[in-house]
Amino acid sequence: MSHPLYSLKHEHRVIERALRAMEGICVRIASGVEVPAESLSRLVDFISAFADGFHHRKEEELLFPALRRQGIGEDGGSLEVMHRQHEAERALIMALRRAVEAMGNGSEAATQRFVEDARRYTDLLTAHIELEDSVLFRLADEVLEEADKKSLGEAFRQAAFELGPNAIERYEKTASDLERAWAL
Ligand SMILES: [Fe+2]
Ligand SMILES: [Fe+2]
Repeated sequence: MSHPLYSLKHEHRVIERALRAMEGICVRIASGVEVPAESLSRLVDFISAFADGFHHRKEEELLFPALRRQGIGEDGGSLEVMHRQHEAERALIMALRRAVEAMGNGSEAATQRFVEDARRYTDLLTAHIELEDSVLFRLADEVLEEADKKSLGEAFRQAAFELGPNAIERYEKTASDLERAWAL
């Protein structure tokens, strides 16, 4: 698999660490264990900045347009499905952020909402990642030409550069820390 697609797959593995932390947090909250607000905020900040702001943005703004130029998804098929899932995931992140804020004010209902939305988010994103890994990225590797892959790789490097020095390493460490602390 070519480098730009491999890097997207690697980001999936990083995001999955945070999803395992999220599942562990939900189990703990549901069984009455108090999870520090700081951990909840750190988790929501991570998925908002890395999964949505960095990874999904690269797919939306760079990979999908490159695929469309090769005629993929013009029938309103797979790319539209992926795009709608990104939007649903983004809406859930906003709901999770609101729930964390309300939990800070002691709202029981917000705690319930957090668990429900976090489970929806992990289910949706797990299935989404599976579909991209098994279908979309394989297809992309086949249909994209070498020149496309090269310019995609350069654009991905630029996106990483724009995050700032060592930002990717910090995100990977955050995901690992969250997994170590909360995954079951
Ligand atoms: Fe995606
Ligand atoms: Fe993805």
